[in-house]
Amino acid sequence: MTDKSTQPRVLIFDTTLRDGEQSPGATMTHDEKLEIAASLDEMGVDIIEAGFPIASEGDFAAVSEIARQAKSAQICGLARANFKDIDRCWEAVKHAKRPRIHTFIGTSPLHRAIPNLTMDQMAERIHETVTHARNLCDNVQWSPMDATRTEHDYLCRTVEIAIKAGATTINIPDTVGYTAPRESADLIRMLLERVPGADNIIFATHCHNDLGMATANSLAAVEAGARQIECTINGLGERAGNTALEEVVMALKVRNDIMPYRTGVDTTKIMAISRRVATVSGFAVQFNKAIVGKNAFAHESGIHQDGMLKNRETFEVMRPEDVGLSGTSLPLGKHSGRAALRAKLKDLGYDMADNQLNDAFVRFKALADRKKEVFDDDLIALIHDSATAAAHDTLQVKRLRVVCGTDGPQEAELTLSIEGVDHSIDATGDGPVDAAFNAVKMLYPHKARLQLYQVQAVTEGTDAQATVSVRLEEDGNISTGQSADTDTIVASVRAYVNALNRLIVRREKAEMGYDTKGISYRDQS
Ligand code: KIV
Ligand code: ZN
Repeated sequence: MTDKSTQPRVLIFDTTLRDGEQSPGATMTHDEKLEIAASLDEMGVDIIEAGFPIASEGDFAAVSEIARQAKSAQICGLARANFKDIDRCWEAVKHAKRPRIHTFIGTSPLHRAIPNLTMDQMAERIHETVTHARNLCDNVQWSPMDATRTEHDYLCRTVEIAIKAGATTINIPDTVGYTAPRESADLIRMLLERVPGADNIIFATHCHNDLGMATANSLAAVEAGARQIECTINGLGERAGNTALEEVVMALKVRNDIMPYRTGVDTTKIMAISRRVATVSGFAVQFNKAIVGKNAFAHESGIHQDGMLKNRETFEVMRPEDVGLSGTSLPLGKHSGRAALRAKLKDLGYDMADNQLNDAFVRFKALADRKKEVFDDDLIALIHDSATAAAHDTLQVKRLRVVCGTDGPQEAELTLSIEGVDHSIDATGDGPVDAAFNAVKMLYPHKARLQLYQVQAVTEGTDAQATVSVRLEEDGNISTGQSADTDTIVASVRAYVNALNRLIVRREKAEMGYDTKGISYRDQS
């Protein structure tokens, strides 16, 4: 057996809360960010990029609080190449036991053209800003954005300046997902060979997935000498997303024979955090996604099932238990008690406080009354659903009845509590969902446009729960809502109302002067 403790350690830098949250519509609430950060910390992620502190008061508050609460992970904030961003970033991360400032500027010809800086002017800016960051914090990461499309000579020059100014980590971003594995490796090798001082810092790789090569590119960079991988849970991120944390970590674990590097991540926590991020971000995981997709460990064809029964290794390169899926999946039923529910939830990675368990138990009993067998996925949907519908929400669904069938128009009778007062209405529509959404709009008039409506069955069977995701847009603000129920129309209305509640919170923040729309990378200084 190989002795992993002697293998080089690759640091895992998770940017779900910063780069991941930049996916249009993936905005998370303050409490959700804190919860995800705590899970990342607990699973052994080395560095958490908690946000972009200057982007909004909300981002600043979340990064500051995550910094205060982190137990062992380094907490990092993003800052553009100007003193104001860097100072704001430091104000947020300084509460951490191990703070880090991450500052960046676009170095490729296309990106240099935006602030309209010459090569020399940009070099000077890098020197000044990295020096400034280093005077505040002894842990500074610098990124030449769009590094993979930057002239090699200029890339070497800027990396050298950043190292001399005190950067301790140099991140090489493939911002537009343009590179390929061999080129990704060559670039790191070239920097290690050519840049003075390169041996004394850590090179990181940060790959986007536009051509579907992000994970391969990250691993190739590691083989060439990079010692930090930047990634997100479920590969969340702008456009096609980022390198997925679960993919790189499991690839290094399963193919340790040819990629002998170790990470500090407890892989058994992967499934629970993947599901939670899917829920709070509103980005469902595709069924055939590597490691965390619903089908990743499913075997349907006769030949595969037969092979699995004889020896699971015939068709599996890793065990479901390795990523936190319980090997046995005995469903619970209406006679199952609180202790069985607690044990099952613990098995699924949810350690619940007593009051949370009480709430989950009431909801579980209600579900078990309607559904003969409650499977693991039902429980996960139920737990996440109870977490999204908070008691202090402005809008709450009280009662819904729909009439549907071949003879339209379909009708919905809805009672909605608005700021604690019940209001009821009847509405019609083109189908029951349309009728129910029309009822919401009549009771609570709003301008938000429905951008996405998605229904997914949680398990098999006609009594399966449906998870519904809704994305709304209003004046450039995007919010998502999710809900699960055995009644698809009820889940739809709850998801819609959940998204509206989030928009209301954003509106309130905007009225208080907070920037809720994020901030561009373009440097304003
Ligand atoms: O993709 C990218 O270039 C980034 C930088 C801010 C590091 O996310
Ligand atoms: Zn990025």
